[in-house]
Amino acid sequence: MSIAIGSDHGGYKLKEAVIRFLAEKNIPYHDFGTYSTDSVDYPDIARDVAQAVANNSYEKGIIICGTGIGVSIAANKIKGIRAALCHDVFSAAMAREHNNANVLCLGERVIGIGLAQLIVDTWLRTEFSGGRHERRVCKIAMLEE
Ligand code: RB5
Repeated sequence: MSIAIGSDHGGYKLKEAVIRFLAEKNIPYHDFGTYSTDSVDYPDIARDVAQAVANNSYEKGIIICGTGIGVSIAANKIKGIRAALCHDVFSAAMAREHNNANVLCLGERVIGIGLAQLIVDTWLRTEFSGGRHERRVCKIAMLEE
């Protein structure tokens, strides 16, 4: 499993914490920035991470901004991306089981580091359950045509 990760300035500190978590678990990742708390535009980072997932360079993506809202809206504009904004563990599990979400979005200004790491862990460990959900995810893809 390889992870593309990125944030804007509003998510920079949480991104660093998530990266520490990935490194502790020996999960390979690439950091698409930003690399400081200097102000940047979140659609640029969301695009870079989402495109890297959509073209299969990375299996999954994690994108963080202040609320997680901007990056999720932007990432979902990229064909093939199913980005889920999750601030609780149940949603993180369901985003994988039911929606086969390939990008997780988080908001640094919304949740703490401990919960964020638990959400990331749950989201990475949970498999897509397929079955009837496969049909529904295919219908999402049809909306892109
Ligand atoms: C940046 O101030 C903030 O707007 C951004 O991080 C994000 O929350 C947008 O949705």
